[in-house]
Amino acid sequence: MRKSRIGILTGGGDCAGLNSAIKWVVKTSLDDRLQRERDTSYEIIGIRDGWKGLVAADPSRGDAQEWLMPLDQNVVRTWDRLGGTMLGTSRTNPYSPKNDQSRKVLGNIQGLGLDAIVAIGGEDTLGVASKLSQEGVSVVAIPKTIDKDLWGTDYALGFETALNVITEEIDRLRTTAGSHKRIFVVETMGRTAGWLALEGGESAGAFIILIPEYDFSVQKINDLVLEGRRQGARYEIIVVAEGAKPSGGGEFIRDQGEDSFGHKILGGIGDYLATEISGATKLETRSLVLSHLQRGGAPCAYDRRMGRYFGIAAVDLIVARDFGKMVSYGNGRIGTVPLKDIVGRLSLVDVATQYDTERYNGRRTILSR
Ligand code: F6P
Repeated sequence: MRKSRIGILTGGGDCAGLNSAIKWVVKTSLDDRLQRERDTSYEIIGIRDGWKGLVAADPSRGDAQEWLMPLDQNVVRTWDRLGGTMLGTSRTNPYSPKNDQSRKVLGNIQGLGLDAIVAIGGEDTLGVASKLSQEGVSVVAIPKTIDKDLWGTDYALGFETALNVITEEIDRLRTTAGSHKRIFVVETMGRTAGWLALEGGESAGAFIILIPEYDFSVQKINDLVLEGRRQGARYEIIVVAEGAKPSGGGEFIRDQGEDSFGHKILGGIGDYLATEISGATKLETRSLVLSHLQRGGAPCAYDRRMGRYFGIAAVDLIVARDFGKMVSYGNGRIGTVPLKDIVGRLSLVDVATQYDTERYNGRRTILSR
């Protein structure tokens, strides 16, 4: 039987569903029957803390093992139920122009004898995967991001669990908002894409939803709120993505510092809106930032299942030696997309067909345009 050693890592922001994908990569590649059929005996090595682990795990140094976690069915048995990532993560960019460590990564992949890498991540992590693939590394990828903005797939791990959090928290807010006749502005994540705010707001039945793809007018929000009150509303829930902007204004940035992929930390749009709305309407308005609650906790059933399917499909790609691809989901089927095609592109809300610019909400026609 041939032998093959596979490295697996998770990079970027954590989310629910990562551990399920890892578990199913491990279970599928180590499955006895499949190994016999494939005439290959696999070994799976977890790499800690994303690309940072592959920069650090230099086999010629004594501490390389600290960055590695050998995985088998016993180790991963319960992982599909667990949130976050048991391998840890980082936003390390080995190709950062300020500190290019890509040669170290290439050397370590070779030194560790890794025949293939499974990278689980969003656009930044998979951008690195794509570059490594172009340099000859055998890489396959699994999509994850609660922002659901990866190009080439209709689903990315973590999104559905995050929607559940948004919906549950808004359900909780409704009772207190109603008791006090208050407006609540709920700030979700979503730096460039409005999927979390839009689909979270739709799931929770929010009165107003604001997304990065369509700049809003504060005046219009106030008019909608006051009109709602005239029609008998006692309270309002307004959902706003962290990357949404007032027309003529820019993104709200909480921290000017940049991570190694050049991203600033966003935040503050919810507070800004609450102040503007209460000032103009004289209605008591509070804001709430859901922040990392959206990425935390146990995965919902959908993320467990999608993690399973993506993990199994990633192993299929490795067995077929069909590298340089990301597993994807579209039209009800698991498929694949070349990694090089997803780089530099994002999947955003199509305002013309998916957003109602009059109501600042989800669309009210679906079959007709
Ligand atoms: O991974 C994307 C994301 O969820 C963005 O929506 C958000 O701006 C960012 O993560 C926050 O990440 P961090 O954990 O680094 O603050």
